[in-house]
Amino acid sequence: MEKKILFPQLGGLMHGGDYNPEQWLDRPDILKEDIRLMKEAGMNCATLGVFAWSTYEPREGEFHFEWLKDIMDRLYENGIYTILATPSGARPAWLDEKYPESMRVDSYGVRAHHGVRHNHCMSAPIYREKVSVIINKMIDEVGSHPGLLMWHISNEFGGECFCPHCVARFQNYLAEKFDHDIDKLNHDWWTVFWSHNYNDFSQIEPPYNNGESSIMGLNLEWKRFTTWSMNDYMKSEIAILRERTPEIPITTNFMKLYDGLDYRIMAKELDVISWDSYPRFHNDEESFSDTLAENAFDHAVMRSMKKNQPFMLMESAPGLVNWHGYNKMKRPGVHKLASLQAVALGSDTVQYFQWRKGRGSSEQYHGAVLDHLGTSNTRVFREVAEVGRDLKKLSDVCGTIIKSKVAVIFDWDTMWAIEDMRGMAQETKNYPKTCIATYRNLMELGVDVDVIACEDSFADYKVIVAPMLYMLKPQIADRLKSFVNDGGQLLATYVTGYVDENQLNFLGGFPGDGLKDLFGVISEELDTLYPADCNQVNFVDGLTGQVHDYAEVLRIADAETLGTYQDDYYAGTPAVTKKVYGKGNAYYVAARLDDAAMKHLFAQMLTNADVAMRRLPKGVECHTRQSDNQCYTFYLNCTQETQTVEDVHGTDLLTGTVINGVLTMDKYQVVVLA
Ligand code: GAL
Repeated sequence: MEKKILFPQLGGLMHGGDYNPEQWLDRPDILKEDIRLMKEAGMNCATLGVFAWSTYEPREGEFHFEWLKDIMDRLYENGIYTILATPSGARPAWLDEKYPESMRVDSYGVRAHHGVRHNHCMSAPIYREKVSVIINKMIDEVGSHPGLLMWHISNEFGGECFCPHCVARFQNYLAEKFDHDIDKLNHDWWTVFWSHNYNDFSQIEPPYNNGESSIMGLNLEWKRFTTWSMNDYMKSEIAILRERTPEIPITTNFMKLYDGLDYRIMAKELDVISWDSYPRFHNDEESFSDTLAENAFDHAVMRSMKKNQPFMLMESAPGLVNWHGYNKMKRPGVHKLASLQAVALGSDTVQYFQWRKGRGSSEQYHGAVLDHLGTSNTRVFREVAEVGRDLKKLSDVCGTIIKSKVAVIFDWDTMWAIEDMRGMAQETKNYPKTCIATYRNLMELGVDVDVIACEDSFADYKVIVAPMLYMLKPQIADRLKSFVNDGGQLLATYVTGYVDENQLNFLGGFPGDGLKDLFGVISEELDTLYPADCNQVNFVDGLTGQVHDYAEVLRIADAETLGTYQDDYYAGTPAVTKKVYGKGNAYYVAARLDDAAMKHLFAQMLTNADVAMRRLPKGVECHTRQSDNQCYTFYLNCTQETQTVEDVHGTDLLTGTVINGVLTMDKYQVVVLA
C-alpha cells in the first residue's frame, strides 16, 4: 500500500494545538511572543477559532475577521498552518437571548439557560441558519487562505435534546424506520408488556427522566436517533464547507468511547478521524501500563474507523488537565511516551489542548504548553519542544499505517444495550472494560490489533475476538459463520447473541441467530457472581483459570470441551469449548476468565492462524507502521522500570543508538527502528 499523506504541505508529522488568540487581542506583545515560542517548540500547526463566535460576531450581523486574518497570515509566514474550527461549539449571548429555541431541553423537559458549551439543539432551524451565516462569512474571509489546512467542525459533539422539535423529529424518524406501521413497532418493542402499546407514532415520547424508561427498544432507538440527529446537524455544516472549499479536508474531534453517540456512523461523513486523549496518568487504581494500554485501545478504535490512512491526536494535555477527580502532573518523560504512543498506533499528529493558559474562567488551570509564567524555560515546555524535535526525526513515518491480522469487535449498540439491560449485575457488566482487557491481552502477545465494528469487513483478519457480543444485528451471525468457515479463528464469550437489533431475545437458545450451530453450544443459564465469589476453570491441558462475575452453564451440542468448571452446582460442566467449523475454529468462553487464561487461548488462536507473536516484558508495547517499502517498529516502555527486549536489531531513529540483540530501555523510553 502506498503512503497516505494527510497534509503534504507539512512535509512530515503535525505538531500543534488549540490556540485562542481571541483571548489576548489586547496584548499584541503576547500574540507576537506566541509565534516565536511556537517555533521554538517545533510546532507547525495551530487550531484556531474553537469557541470564537462572540469575537467574530459580537452582535448579530456585525462581523470582525481582521484579527483572524492577521493571525493566520503571521502564522503562515512563520511556517505554521491553521486548522480552523467552525464556532458552533458555544453560542454568543445575543443568539440565545433572541433565539432561545437554540438552547437544549433536558430529559425533564426543562429548557437550559444560556451558558457553558456543547449544548445547542441539533434540530433548531434558526440555529442551523445562524451557523450557516457565520460559516459562510468565515469562508468569504479566509476560505482561500494558503495557511488553511483543515476544517474542524464544532467541538466534541455530545448530549441530547428533548425539545418539542426534536421530539417531533424522533417520531418521524420512528415512523420511517417502522414503515409507518405502529403495530410493527409495538411488536418489535414488546410494548404489550405493562400495557405500553401505542396507537400512533405521535404518542411516543423520548425516555424522559420522569417518563417511559422500561421499553428497551425505545431507549436504544433514542440513542440511535440522537446519533442520527447529531450527524444530520454535523452534515449541515459539512455541506457548506464541501461545496465552497472542496479541497480542504474535514474532521471533528471524538472522545474515547463516548457513550452518547455512535462515532462509527459519524466517521463516514469525515475525511479524517481525530480524537482527544486525556488518560488519568499515574492514578492509584491501576498500573501505569494499564492506563497506557487503555489509551492504546482508544487509539486503535479511532484508527480502525478509517484504517487505510493515519488519524489525528487532536488534543492531549501538556502537563495536566483540570477536570479529572485528581489532576496529577505527567511525570518527566511521560509526555513524550504518550505522544509517541499515538504516533506508534497510527496518528500523524500530536496536538494539544492548549497552547497558552487563559487568565480566567473554567480552564485557567488546565495544562498548556505555555503557563502563566509565560516563558519557554519550564519543564513542560522543554518536554513539548523535545516531542517537536522527535516528530521531525520521524518525518518519514508520515502516511504509513498499521496492517493488522487480528481484530477485537467493539459494538456501540451492544454497549448501549448491555448498559440498559435489566439483568447481570449493574456494577460488573463492564462491556467496554472487557473489550479493553481483550485488546490488552492480545497486544501483550506482540501483535497489533484493530478494534472494529461488527458491520466492518472481516476480510483482512485471521483472528477475531468478539467479547460479550450481546446484540446480533441482521447478517452479523451469518458473516461470523462465513469468517470461520473460510478459515478464521473466532472467539466469543458469555452473553453472546441474546438479542436482536431491537433488543428482542432470540428464541431457541443463545447464542442466537444461528450461532449455536457455529459454536456447538447452547447457554442454558447465566449465573451472576457476587464480587467475593469465584470459581475455577480446569483446562484439559493442565492450565487453570479464575472465574469472576459471570458464568454461563452450557449445554454442549457438538463442540470439544477445553475446560470445565471446578465448583458449584455446575462443577464438571464445560466452561470453554472449541468447534471446528469449515476451515476454521470457533471458541466459546462461557465465563469471565482471568487474563492469563484468556491469553493462553489467544495464543492458541494466533498459532492456528500462523500470526507471529513477540515475547515482550509486561508493559512494553510494540507497534509496527508500514507502507509498500517502509516499515517502522516502535517499542514503548510503559512501565516505571528499566526493561529489556530480546532479538532487536537496528538503529534508533530518535537517538541514533545501534541495537544489536538486546534492547535495554529506561523507564518511559521510546525507541523507533526503521
Ligand atoms: C476537551 C475540549 C477542550 C478542552 C479540553 C480540556 O474535551 O475539546 O475544549 O475543554 O477538553 O481537557
